[in-house]
Amino acid sequence: MEGTQYQQRLSSRKVTPTRALSDIAADAAAGLLSRPRFMPPKYFYDARGSRLFDAICDTPEYYPTRTEDALLEQHARVILEQTRPAHIIEFGSGTSRKTRRLLGACDSGLSYWPFDVCEAMLHETGHRLVQEYDWLDVNVLVGDYLAGLDDLPQLDGACLYLFLGGTIGNFNPRQARDFLVELRSLMKPGDSLLLGADRLKDSAVLHAAYNDADGITAEFNLNLLRVLNRELDADFEPRHFRHRALFDGDRQRIEMYLESRRRQSVRIGALDACLELDAGERILTEISRKFSRRGLESLLRETGFAVRAHYQPDNGWYSLLLAGPDGLS
Ligand code: AVJ
Repeated sequence: MEGTQYQQRLSSRKVTPTRALSDIAADAAAGLLSRPRFMPPKYFYDARGSRLFDAICDTPEYYPTRTEDALLEQHARVILEQTRPAHIIEFGSGTSRKTRRLLGACDSGLSYWPFDVCEAMLHETGHRLVQEYDWLDVNVLVGDYLAGLDDLPQLDGACLYLFLGGTIGNFNPRQARDFLVELRSLMKPGDSLLLGADRLKDSAVLHAAYNDADGITAEFNLNLLRVLNRELDADFEPRHFRHRALFDGDRQRIEMYLESRRRQSVRIGALDACLELDAGERILTEISRKFSRRGLESLLRETGFAVRAHYQPDNGWYSLLLAGPDGLS
């Protein structure tokens, strides 16, 4: 009986892409078979990759998660008082670990809309949340937020959009702008955005965060090869690659690569092709941009937002920005 009670507060829907989405085969064909070689970072996150990412967040070197979590905990009440949301919509919700800081500071009728690609993970998280918070409705949104937001439900009442974890840093400057402009265009007066982003800092700290001593980030990066093997009938040998993460000071970003340890030829069955790699040749698997305080505020202003609050820890290592749609409200 209790099960049905929970279920009434848990629903699920698929978000139809606005724009045609390339699949992993098309992305591999475009990214791997010519130079420079690259793959979009979203393919890291299969079940094993998501677990490895969670493990990265627990390493002593990877400060962003911990820092953001502390900021959320510290400012949750004020953020909720200022935004008074009827709905919280989260892009890339994952296991909703950090979101609990906000939910924990609420106590009455609220709908939570976690938006992510992995349906199994969303349902598991959704179940846990409706059991934990008996006043909460959870409506999971299954889809890829990079494919467009046209099919998001039109919600009455104030919406608080969350884009946390520093994932904005995975986008190149144009993608970041496009995403923020698109989000801004669906916001009503009274809606808000809470954005988490990583900051520029001593490059040794950045380097360590992406090269943890236990090699978990390396394992996370190499996991992409297992995904490619499984999804594209490929025969990548993870042992023949090494993890590389470097800070590029000019472009203000961490670049993560898989580097070929030797000259090798990798068969990709689904593409009916062979990938020929030289010794030392790299595949770019992720960029993680690091921002200045002013850079983040200009990015939001230039995409149509008014910054309402900008929280950071004493060391300035991370930013949490609260913004509303400019020219409305
Ligand atoms: C989840 C995309 C924010 O860029 O820091 C962690 C992913 N990659 N370690 C990041 C990641 C390597 C992470 N984001």
